[in-house]
Amino acid sequence: MINLRLDKFIADGASLTRKEAREKIKKGLVAVEKKTVRDISFQVNEESSITLNNEKIKFVKYIYIMLNKPAGFVSATEDKNKSTVMDLIDPKFKRYDLFPVGRLDIDTEGFLLLTNNGELAHNILSPNKKVGKTYFVRLENDISDEDIKKLEDGVDIGDIITKKSIVERITKNEINLTITEGKFHQIKRMAHAVDNNVVYLKRLSYGGLFLDETLEKGAYKLLDEEEIIQKL
Ligand code: URA
Repeated sequence: MINLRLDKFIADGASLTRKEAREKIKKGLVAVEKKTVRDISFQVNEESSITLNNEKIKFVKYIYIMLNKPAGFVSATEDKNKSTVMDLIDPKFKRYDLFPVGRLDIDTEGFLLLTNNGELAHNILSPNKKVGKTYFVRLENDISDEDIKKLEDGVDIGDIITKKSIVERITKNEINLTITEGKFHQIKRMAHAVDNNVVYLKRLSYGGLFLDETLEKGAYKLLDEEEIIQKL
């Protein structure tokens, strides 16, 4: 059983800041088991029946954010010198201890999932679970069908031979590449293995969960847990 304060429950469940949640509680808008409670530190748990303005508030444990990462941000929660993806997220989400699911290089753009659900993150990242991550890759030089075949079969990137991947040709020098691993600079190193270079890289999806292309660079939206579980 998770015990927590009423103000935290309300803030999490109604996407409010802690301050806003406290104000609502103090105004008498919050009821626990049908009784108005004005004590912000009142202890509740995940099974408590809680309403705000007579509407039931669901207990929120995990949250999921789809971020369209722009170039120039580090995929980390902190960095001494550079801006991180967390700088793009409203501070009201700080309390969830979000972290990025897998890293994108500073110059890579696209879909970065942020969550506080460690088990889900592990499942997405573990090569054994075979959740494909698809990247749009623009290469410096045209890529031959033979080189595409090599990428699909697996190439030597120094420390490993990559597992089988899926390549879809877009143009002479652009492909969508789906990999189930996530080694450091993996796509860039795969390109090097066929004597090419990545000039632009963008993650499009994790499994069947695709980046919402209406999100501007740097914008994000919350995702439903059910949708994620279904689509991964
Ligand atoms: N592969 C790379 O080389 N860079 C990324 O950011 C992601 C995958």
